[in-house]
Amino acid sequence: MMVAPHNSCATTDPLPFDIGAKEIHVWLIESDDTWDAGTAATYRNILSEEEHRKLAGFFFERDRWQYLVAHAALRLLLSAYRPSVRPESWRFKAGTQGRPDIADEASGLTFNLSHTLGGIALAFARGCRLGVDIERPGEEADLDLAETICAADEIRALGSLPQSSQAARFTRLWTLKEAYLKALGTGLSLPANCISFQLSGDDVAGHQILAPDAETDTAWSFYVGTTGQRCKFALAWSDDLRDQTRNVQLIEVPPNRILDAAHHRFAGLAQATLQTAPVSIVTV
Ligand SMILES: CC(C)(COP(=O)(O)OP(=O)(O)OC[C@H]1O[C@@H](n2cnc3c(N)ncnc32)[C@H](O)[C@@H]1OP(=O)(O)O)[C@@H](O)C(=O)NCCC(=O)NCCS
Repeated sequence: MMVAPHNSCATTDPLPFDIGAKEIHVWLIESDDTWDAGTAATYRNILSEEEHRKLAGFFFERDRWQYLVAHAALRLLLSAYRPSVRPESWRFKAGTQGRPDIADEASGLTFNLSHTLGGIALAFARGCRLGVDIERPGEEADLDLAETICAADEIRALGSLPQSSQAARFTRLWTLKEAYLKALGTGLSLPANCISFQLSGDDVAGHQILAPDAETDTAWSFYVGTTGQRCKFALAWSDDLRDQTRNVQLIEVPPNRILDAAHHRFAGLAQATLQTAPVSIVTV
């Protein structure tokens, strides 16, 4: 599997597990969601009691697998970034709208995760707000929902496209909005049609928050991409207005290789480094 983002320079160097202040690491885990007993047994050992309770609550095995891999990967990778904490020892706290963050984290290490059938995305950074959203391969959003999800100018822009490309564009907008709402921590409690993105092709040319209490002193950047297995994902992060540039590293790893990756065994894993530029500033 190879990630093929634009502006990328592929590298096979092992990933240093010390995220610099100007980096974001995005781990992309794709699988067919088939339960693998050996991997599951290892991963179950590091989940918390609460995570075990949630795991037991899923009706479908594929949903259990996805949750197990996502949360085991989160713990394993956090410990790779901070080896003094064992994977099973991480504690999380939830914000008022349910956003999980590391409890008592002094170093500024932050994360966000997203999972769907077929794909998991985990993003890690330091000192910024961060949101990620992944959509399953081949899934396109139902255009009937555009009125609810999109702002008026987005609906106009969608309407100007050939009908054959509208669903793909709408899916892209929705994925970006979710990543952004997750970075804000509001989730969908802030209506998605309060945000308006201006896209140029697949890139974000600008955005506005149309809500009355919108922030004006933060710069937001976005990245949209497609994984090797064709999951679409979006990343949103905030930065200091004076210096928004961050390197985004994408790492694709199969569900049964996360332990290897966390122990620096990178052979056979695909990595790509993106040099990102500042792409958008909040204008209200
Ligand atoms: C956050 C939200 C947009 C997720 O949407 P989704 O596309 O179904 O799910 P994703 O796979 O992309 O993301 C789920 C993950 O995001 C994280 N998450 C949950 N709430 C979050 C929030 N408010 N902000 C950021 N991330 C959040 C969790 O890690 C979650 O994974 P988990 O359930 O396995 O722990 C949606 O659940 C939401 O709007 N929630 C907040 C609003 C709400 O209902 N609040 C209730 C008050 S507690």
